[in-house]
Amino acid sequence: MTTSTARMRIPLTRPMLGAREELAVLDVLRSGWLVQGPRVAEFESAVACYVGAQHGIATSSCTAALHLGLVLHGIGPGDEVIVPSFTFIATANAVVYTGATPVFVDIDPSTYNIDPGAVDSAITPRTKAIIPVHQLGLAADLDTLATIARRHDLVLLEDAAPAIGATYKGRRVGGFGNSTCLSFHPRKAITTGEGGMLLTDDAVMAERARTLRAHGMSLSDLTRHHADRVLFEEYHEVGYNYRMTDLQAALGIAQLTRLDTVIERRRALARRYAATLHHVEGVQLPPSPRDTPPTYQSFMIEVPTGSRNILMKELLDVGIATRRGVMAIHMEPFYRNRYPDLRLPVTQSATRDTLLLPMYATMTSIEQEYVVEHLLRALDACRPSTRQSQTA
Ligand SMILES: Cc1ncc(COP(=O)(O)O)c(C=O)c1O
Repeated sequence: MTTSTARMRIPLTRPMLGAREELAVLDVLRSGWLVQGPRVAEFESAVACYVGAQHGIATSSCTAALHLGLVLHGIGPGDEVIVPSFTFIATANAVVYTGATPVFVDIDPSTYNIDPGAVDSAITPRTKAIIPVHQLGLAADLDTLATIARRHDLVLLEDAAPAIGATYKGRRVGGFGNSTCLSFHPRKAITTGEGGMLLTDDAVMAERARTLRAHGMSLSDLTRHHADRVLFEEYHEVGYNYRMTDLQAALGIAQLTRLDTVIERRRALARRYAATLHHVEGVQLPPSPRDTPPTYQSFMIEVPTGSRNILMKELLDVGIATRRGVMAIHMEPFYRNRYPDLRLPVTQSATRDTLLLPMYATMTSIEQEYVVEHLLRALDACRPSTRQSQTA
């Protein structure tokens, strides 16, 4: 590691965008067809093909895809859905939208993903679904969860928001026959600005998802546009406006061509972080199991209790953006008020002590060295022995 002197500005993340994306979006602008149309259909096929699913239904966000997925599986008031708390709040909010109750369970400390043993213990006669999250791009224990779901006749709806391209035992997440939701928010490996996708192998469910995401309309705008006779649409049920635009989809198609490069780069950056931090006392590196290699939406480290917020401030002062690690949903006020007695010890200690370091495909080695150098300095300053000798 070199010693950098000039102050830099390092964002937490930065999408990899270039001429490819500019031209793709410009083409759509020039075509005059901006809303859901041919580019959305093309993007859906391309993503479904990439992950190995039969159907992709693009949506305005992953949150919308999760909600749609739950509605399509008939989840509603009176039902319980088992979710991790150690995830973004959208996972639980989507359950609340349906009128069902999220049941929070703890995570496995070795993966930060939902603990299948805790899932098993939380099942009641009202349980209808499990939503595992492939947190930070590391696939959850799908085999065990699928066995539990089969045994109790439960829906397995995968929240793969941070995990496009992640594999589980050699196959891509989204290609296991479960309904799976992806996000294309700029924090993810590839982006459409805002956007998501529901993946399924069920043709009937896919058709209904396409209708429900567009207000329940029996005909798409594009079908009416191309018709050579007057067509009238019908509305058989209450739907939503969860459509993606062709502008977003064009961006997504261009981004998909970069996905493997982005993942490769992130893995290289993760190896470099790991190589420089593995010996540092008090720092715990993120898991990297061989049969489920992570795609690293972020590089999350665990640091000594009490030091995380100090480190974040120290790093911010030298121009480095970090974030707290993954939130614990049940500790946020809306949910805390509804689950005042819930304790999830592994989740609570992970959310207290974890820190996300900057990581993006275009990150240079100089930028990464700058982050490591200042992180090491800040960690040193946090150590009790250092502080004592400085104040002595
Ligand atoms: C695990 C998880 N689920 C759901 C979402 C929501 O995705 P979106 O912002 O596309 O609605 C996110 C976004 O960060 C996420 O990390």
